[in-house]
Amino acid sequence: MTTTVGLIGVGRIGVMHARHLQALAADGVELVIADLDAARARQVAADIGCRAAPDVDALFTGAPGGGSPGGVVIAVGTAAHAPLILRAAEAGIPAFCEKPVAESTEAALPVLEAVSRLGSTVQIGLQRRLDPGCLTAKGALDRGDLGWLHTIRAITADMTPPPVEFLATSGGLFRDCSVHDFDILQWMTGQRIVEVCARGSNNGDPAIGQVGDVDTAVALAELEDGTVATVSASRYNGAGHDVRLELQGSAGTLQVGLDDSYAGRSAEPGVRFPSGTPHRTFHERFAEAYRAEMRAFVELVRGERENPCPPEEAVDASRVADAAQESLETGRAVRVRR
Ligand SMILES: NC(=O)c1ccc[n+]([C@@H]2O[C@H](COP(=O)([O-])OP(=O)(O)OC[C@H]3O[C@@H](n4cnc5c(N)ncnc54)[C@H](O)[C@@H]3O)[C@@H](O)[C@H]2O)c1
Repeated sequence: MTTTVGLIGVGRIGVMHARHLQALAADGVELVIADLDAARARQVAADIGCRAAPDVDALFTGAPGGGSPGGVVIAVGTAAHAPLILRAAEAGIPAFCEKPVAESTEAALPVLEAVSRLGSTVQIGLQRRLDPGCLTAKGALDRGDLGWLHTIRAITADMTPPPVEFLATSGGLFRDCSVHDFDILQWMTGQRIVEVCARGSNNGDPAIGQVGDVDTAVALAELEDGTVATVSASRYNGAGHDVRLELQGSAGTLQVGLDDSYAGRSAEPGVRFPSGTPHRTFHERFAEAYRAEMRAFVELVRGERENPCPPEEAVDASRVADAAQESLETGRAVRVRR
C-alpha cells in the first residue's frame, strides 16, 4: 500500500521526522516536504532523497504531480500549528502535529471544536507515549504488577538552556518541558491531575529570570485518587539529558530511563552502574520514540491502529501546565481548570 505523507516544516525537529518517514519508503511511504523557506526544503529533499513541493499550498493540493497527501505532518513553529491543523481538518486529511496544539490553551479550544465537528484525525507529538520504557511501565501498571502506587517521581532535565529569545516566548518551563511529564503521568495512570503546587529557582543565567522564566522548578501534583507525584525540570543538568519516571507501588517499583545512559553516577564504592555515555539531547534520549510516532502516524492514516495521542488529551496536559505556571507565579496551590 502506498501512502503519501506531506511534511510541513523542516527545521530541527522536522528534519528528524522527515528522515524517519523516508526510512519507511520500503513500507510504501512516499514523502513530500515543504517549508516557508523553499530553498531549505529543496536542500533537505536532496539530502534525504524525497520530493520537495514548491510551497505549502502545493503540498496540500498535490500540484505539481500526484494527488493530495494521505496525511500531513506539521513540524513548524508553534504559532502555525493551529492554522495548519485546521487546514488539514477542513481538507479531510489526517494530521500529525508537534506539541502543543496551539500557542495557549484558549487558542487550542476552537481547534478541538473544529476537529471534533469535522470528525478529523489529529495525532499530537507527545512522543513519550511511544517510548519503549514508558510502554513497558504502563503495561506493568495496567496488569497490577506494582500493586497500588504510593509515589510517582518524574524528571526532565536538559543539559543546557535553549536561547533566551526562545525562553521569552515559550510560556515557561512547565509549559515547554514538564507538559511531557504531566501528559505521561495522566496517560500512564489513567487518572487526571487535579491540583498542583509549584516552586522554581533561578541560579543560572540571570537573563532567564529577566524574561520571566525559571531555570529549575518542581511541581507537586495530586491525582484524582489522592496519589502524589513530583514533576521536576531543569535547564542546567550538566551530567546529561535526564528524563526518568519512577513508579513506586505497594508491590514493586519501576523506573523508566534507568539504563546505562542514565546521566548520573553512583556515590557507592565499587558500583560500576551506569557504565555508558549519557544522552546529551532529547533527540538521543527519545530516538526510538520519535521513530515509533512516525510509524504510528502512517498506521493511523492507513486505519491500522488507534490514535496514540488525541489532541484533547494533549490540551488537558497543557491545562495542568497552566495551573503549574499559575502556582509558580502566585505561590499558591492551584486546581486544574477544565
Ligand atoms: N516533541 C518534542 O519533543 C519536541 C521537541 C522540539 C520541538 N518540538 C516542537 O516542534 C515545533 C518545531 O520546533 P523546531 O525546533 O523544529 O523549530 P525550527 O524553528 O527549527 O523549525 C521550524 C521550521 O518551520 C518552518 N515554518 C515555520 N512556519 C511555517 C509555515 N507556516 N509553513 C511552512 N513552514 C513553516 C520554518 O521555516 C522552519 O524551517 C515546535 O512547535 C516545538 O514546540 C517538539
